[in-house]
Amino acid sequence: MTKRILFTGGSGKAGRHVIPWLIDKGYEVHNIDLVPLDYPGVTNLTVDITDSGQVFNALSMHTDFSDLEHGKGVQPFDAVVHFAAIPRILIKPDNETFRVNTIGTYNVIEAAVKLGIRKVVIASSETTYGICFAEGDKLPHYLPFDEDYDVDPMDSYGLSKVVNEKTARAFAERTGADVYALRIGNVIEPDEYGMFTEFVEKPETRLRNAWCYIDARDLGQMVHLCIEKDGLGFQVFNATNDTVTAQMTTQELAARFFPGVAFKRDMARDEGLISNAKIREVLGFKEEHDWRKYVNL
Ligand SMILES: NC(=O)c1ccc[n+]([C@@H]2O[C@H](COP(=O)([O-])OP(=O)(O)OC[C@H]3O[C@@H](n4cnc5c(N)ncnc54)[C@H](O)[C@@H]3O)[C@@H](O)[C@H]2O)c1
Repeated sequence: MTKRILFTGGSGKAGRHVIPWLIDKGYEVHNIDLVPLDYPGVTNLTVDITDSGQVFNALSMHTDFSDLEHGKGVQPFDAVVHFAAIPRILIKPDNETFRVNTIGTYNVIEAAVKLGIRKVVIASSETTYGICFAEGDKLPHYLPFDEDYDVDPMDSYGLSKVVNEKTARAFAERTGADVYALRIGNVIEPDEYGMFTEFVEKPETRLRNAWCYIDARDLGQMVHLCIEKDGLGFQVFNATNDTVTAQMTTQELAARFFPGVAFKRDMARDEGLISNAKIREVLGFKEEHDWRKYVNL
């Protein structure tokens, strides 16, 4: 049977690529956002996720006029994918970023699980690792960054995502629902690979992303895998592509930019420092968009 997905923030940079992926996999997708997404088959509802009443309603009302025809009343959603957020620092005042992201995520997860939805996928972030928006230079505790790392950001955005992971865990514990948090790397759209020549020529410019990225379409695959895999409770998955965006090896990058930091395990010569090993092993993710396919060096 077709799964009905409620997607928050689907009009944004990541959502506008993830939603077509999900449609292609046969899902029905309903977008809630402050602005609509113009994509065939996707309904839009204008919702401010910081308002709990709006979120509860969005999750428990008709999605389109056609819903009036079958006479069966409001149909439930099978899963919620929550991407709506202020996507970094320095867009809004720090406290507003923290407020929208934490209250919004609380509202979405609470409404979903209290309305009986058993699968929620939320967008967390690489910034939880504390390097991306750190004050000056900050060394990792160890490498690679994996899901067991003691996350310690010092900015309001990264902190909001840490809080959101705790919120996700609390609701999963309370209700037994599956709530999976994707620690998403720097999202790259198909038309953005032109930037990679500079990424490679000037590796120092990518230190704050630990030379990692996620192709927006590969992120679509990850969200699809999360929706299909049931029964894992609360989980965190790094959502990054397989390899570093450099010609230097992983070991050379670490030695030059993170001197003295220990490796927790052996790593392949170009393996991403924000490790995607868990999502590959647990969910079966297979990268389709290696940056080298799109960049002529
Ligand atoms: N872009 C990246 O590199 C990146 C990296 C890591 C994590 N993330 C996370 O992934 C998610 C998607 O990021 P993105 O790059 O597509 O961001 P984006 O800003 O392009 O899209 C976010 C969407 O959320 C909507 N939104 C914001 N506040 C809202 C509110 N109060 N109510 C309803 N909708 C609201 C916006 O209108 C927008 O369409 C976010 O949670 C972001 O924090 C993004």
